[in-house]
Amino acid sequence: MENVNPTPLQSLEDWEDDVLERYPEPGTKAKDDYRNYEDSERVNTVREFYRLNHTYQTYDFVVEKEREFLAFNKREMSIWDAVAFLNTLVDDSDPDTDLDQLQHLLQTSEAIRQDGHPDWFVLTGFLHDLGKVLCLFGEPQWAVVGDTFPVGCKHSDRIVYPEFFDLNPDSTDARFNTKYGIYEPNCGLDNVKLSWGHDEYIYQIMKNYIPEEGLYMLRYHSFYSQHREGAYDHLMSKHDHKMFEWVNKFNPYDLYSKVPYPPNVQELKPYYEDLVAKYLPSTLKF
Ligand SMILES: [Fe+2]
Ligand SMILES: [Fe+2]
Repeated sequence: MENVNPTPLQSLEDWEDDVLERYPEPGTKAKDDYRNYEDSERVNTVREFYRLNHTYQTYDFVVEKEREFLAFNKREMSIWDAVAFLNTLVDDSDPDTDLDQLQHLLQTSEAIRQDGHPDWFVLTGFLHDLGKVLCLFGEPQWAVVGDTFPVGCKHSDRIVYPEFFDLNPDSTDARFNTKYGIYEPNCGLDNVKLSWGHDEYIYQIMKNYIPEEGLYMLRYHSFYSQHREGAYDHLMSKHDHKMFEWVNKFNPYDLYSKVPYPPNVQELKPYYEDLVAKYLPSTLKF
């Protein structure tokens, strides 16, 4: 690999802040002075992050990561161990203004709970980013976060920074660079490989325990080129479309639940302990 900084983002949240700017909450308007120096620096690091992501997330890369991580031989942990482990992920972001990973998860799940959704939906919110423990297994940022997209077929120009796909070897591979590539029309997303990251990883860990609607949320929450842009309807089955209603329902909680004050972890913990115990075994293999 070229000699570049593999971790251009100061924080994994830089990517999420960028998504939030791309898809602002309806009815809100960016402040006039919103873009300051820090923001423009973030634009540059996020662009570099996407350059790496779009260059190296090839079909063969995904196959290799599946082989490596879907063996689930890294660690056996309870959800609470996994949350504590994820919370050891410290990055260069400002510790005074940024919430830790547990607080981010709780803000998402609490927003879902306050809207009266079923408990498995709340649990899904609580779990949805736990796959980011991949970073702690030594994976680079571009293989953990970022918008996901199908590999094995043509990259849509509705994926963010599509020009960087010129650097991806799959773009000149005749097997992979046509509209359908290795797939059949409307074959269903279960038959389609997406770029590797925290979504697929947590889906695979949870797939026997959570209702299908929640599994779609886990698996496709970063698939913005479909759930926001509809760029891959030609690979989706009717069933996928139905299930994506839940992915769409989930996305605002992921993007718009961030409030500057931290949730009261001690107060909330008993509820989440019961919820986790209701659906999940005492330990899970990562
Ligand atoms: Fe996520
Ligand atoms: Fe998230």
